[in-house]
Amino acid sequence: MSTPVGELDLPFVGFGDDRNERLVATLRAAEQSWLARGEIGYTVLRYDDVVAVLRDKRWHSAVPLVVEMSAEATPEFKMRRRESILSAEGDTHVRLRRLVAPAFSPRRADKLRPAMREVVNGLVDRVASSGTADIAADVCEPYPIPIICELLGAPKADWELFSRWATDVLRVFDNNFKVDMPAIIAAQDGLDLYTRNLIADRRSKPRDDLLTDLIAMEEAGDRLTTEELVMMVEAVIVGGTDTTRNQLGLAVDMLIDHPDKWGLLADDPTTAPRFVEETMRLNGAVRATGRVASCDIEYRGVLFPAGSIVFPALASANRDASVFTDPNHFDPTNRDSGQPQLTFGSGIHYCLGAALARAELQEALPLLARRMPNIRRTAEPRYKIATAGVFGPTSLPVGFDPT
Ligand code: HEM
Repeated sequence: MSTPVGELDLPFVGFGDDRNERLVATLRAAEQSWLARGEIGYTVLRYDDVVAVLRDKRWHSAVPLVVEMSAEATPEFKMRRRESILSAEGDTHVRLRRLVAPAFSPRRADKLRPAMREVVNGLVDRVASSGTADIAADVCEPYPIPIICELLGAPKADWELFSRWATDVLRVFDNNFKVDMPAIIAAQDGLDLYTRNLIADRRSKPRDDLLTDLIAMEEAGDRLTTEELVMMVEAVIVGGTDTTRNQLGLAVDMLIDHPDKWGLLADDPTTAPRFVEETMRLNGAVRATGRVASCDIEYRGVLFPAGSIVFPALASANRDASVFTDPNHFDPTNRDSGQPQLTFGSGIHYCLGAALARAELQEALPLLARRMPNIRRTAEPRYKIATAGVFGPTSLPVGFDPT
């Protein structure tokens, strides 16, 4: 007989304002229990349970709740939200995922590596001789958009436009709908029309890009509709912009405190994949995701009634001592737990852009290390609010030896 979750005596982990305090509180709770109570719902704390919840299809994505639960978003705005791969579940999600996954292969990501190096070099060129930079604003912020444009096949002349739409579409996560709604709606409409034109163009003139691949993807006679193609482009922007830029910022932020490792990365770029995994493990831009129980769910003797909300805490799972030896120690070169870090999630919603994000980080980090030797802080970094769905530095001022 399972105990209803509401009757359990659980540690409490609140949202909190300080990211370090919040992480410490989460890790302390993980020592006592696999589950904690929070302001909204429950936090799943340990590696095996986080993976189990993310792999259990009865737990549905909580992405739609971001807008649904907002008191400020108008009913018209809520009506506009179309289903996305991020929020789809069941057969709809399985079908979408099967159709689009081959287009997000490591091979397609690898083809973009020269473009990634060109973009990062171009951004560093602007600051290299001065020996000072704000890594967050000068490098991380602008980096992902040209890559996404290159991936989709949007012409260079439109990158600015794209960048503005992406910024405004992403405001949906800022929880400030009263102010942001008009900008979000205008960006969604602009992007929508633009994407439809791009799709029409690729249908008549196929090219070597993701959009052409997505149009051509076919399985057992099934294909993506134009609506679904438009949705996928928005999902790539929503999923692939803020995440990558914040993850890069967090990785550099961490490496500044490890000058020997920064030097190693500069001298031996082949270590980059290990650096990416280890910085993502200890300092992930996505520290938790959300799930809603689609029915009554019994797990580990606990009954979660339908509608229960849980937050699988990727950040504390990534520091679970039963999986990672000496889990708080930063060890990019020797760590080999045999288990993946969880900042890309797990299960059916596992990050579709993981190969692309890994390539972007693997290209950017050694280049920055080589072109910004002897990097050090010149002022305190500033960060997004601790509860941000995608977390990272908004300002990371550094000095380095001019190159
Ligand atoms: C370091 C950068 C990134 C991080 C940390 C990250 C993290 C994540 C996580 C944790 C999820 C799963 C969310 C959940 O289960 O609720 C996810 C899903 C997703 N990501 Fe990423 N992501 C990154 C980069 C990207 C990029 C570059 C793209 C696009 C090219 C992308 C596209 C997506 C999409 C479309 C999904 C939804 C997949 C599905 O629901 O089936 N992500 N990402």
